[in-house]
Amino acid sequence: MAEIHKIIVDSDTAGDDAAALILAARSKTVEILGVTVAAGNVSLEQAALNSMAALELAGCDAPVYLGATAPLSGEEKECFSVYGKDGMGEADIVHPKGKPREKHAVDFILETVRANPGEVEIVALGPVTNLALAIQKDRETMCKVKRIWSMGTAGFGPGNATPVAEFNVYKDAPAYKIMLELGVPVTILGLDMDDEPTWHDEKKLEEMKEGSEAQRFIATATRKLLEFKKGNGIAAVDLPDAVAMACICWPDFVEETTQCYGSCITEPGETYGMVIFYREGFTYDSMPKIGKCNVSVVSKAKKSEFVDRLNAVFKS
Ligand code: RIB
Ligand code: CA
Repeated sequence: MAEIHKIIVDSDTAGDDAAALILAARSKTVEILGVTVAAGNVSLEQAALNSMAALELAGCDAPVYLGATAPLSGEEKECFSVYGKDGMGEADIVHPKGKPREKHAVDFILETVRANPGEVEIVALGPVTNLALAIQKDRETMCKVKRIWSMGTAGFGPGNATPVAEFNVYKDAPAYKIMLELGVPVTILGLDMDDEPTWHDEKKLEEMKEGSEAQRFIATATRKLLEFKKGNGIAAVDLPDAVAMACICWPDFVEETTQCYGSCITEPGETYGMVIFYREGFTYDSMPKIGKCNVSVVSKAKKSEFVDRLNAVFKS
């Protein structure tokens, strides 16, 4: 019997986060205890609306909680929103019936972990400001989190926010550093695991527009992303958050992880937001062997199966 993961999804919900939420809501291997949102791809309020719209489409009544409006530093890192102003393709497809809960996201996270010590896994799909605030408020409770799954960092490849930094880290690097230093198990799904075999190409997106409600929703929600990608010569969209969620929902999807010590650069400058991974037990030419490890970095997965398996869920 596959393990049932009790998860809190912390997200800055745009198209790919929405795909991840639908995947989780329709997977028998996860129970969504709640969704907490932070600003990132879009504003806090829009992230909540997008989250509720995705959950309602998937028939999931998990509660949504508003969290941080800005990074820990308070100073917003300007980033171009590749998903469109509403994060969902600017196609007027976000009309949830529900409302977010009154309680603050950080209080929901702490109360849920306190009530379920050692059982709650947090799936971080956006800037991790809410997690850092929860750690600052009650570290002892946050040490009872079973595992953090992070769609974040460039993995062992190039960045997207800058040549070396990935968006979720870049939006709040100090928060990411605090998360890495918490000491609970962390599994990282970096951008490098989100490469071509996992992409939805233009032909697939057109096919999805004639498909199920979930397929139409995601194909439309990512139409501005497709325009952005085509500007870089790529006629396809990537869904990094859905790839990350697949690692949790599909027990066989991850084929290899690499134990590392992840060090997040928070100093201003060209490498701000970069996360350097020192492989545990590996002898580098010019430095002593690293004997410590704080993350498991997904380094091999069944990427070529992703698009068909995700669409099988969307069609269900
Ligand atoms: O870098 C990709 C990540 O940044 C994804 O989570 C995307 O939704 C954005 O939040
Ligand atoms: Ca995201």
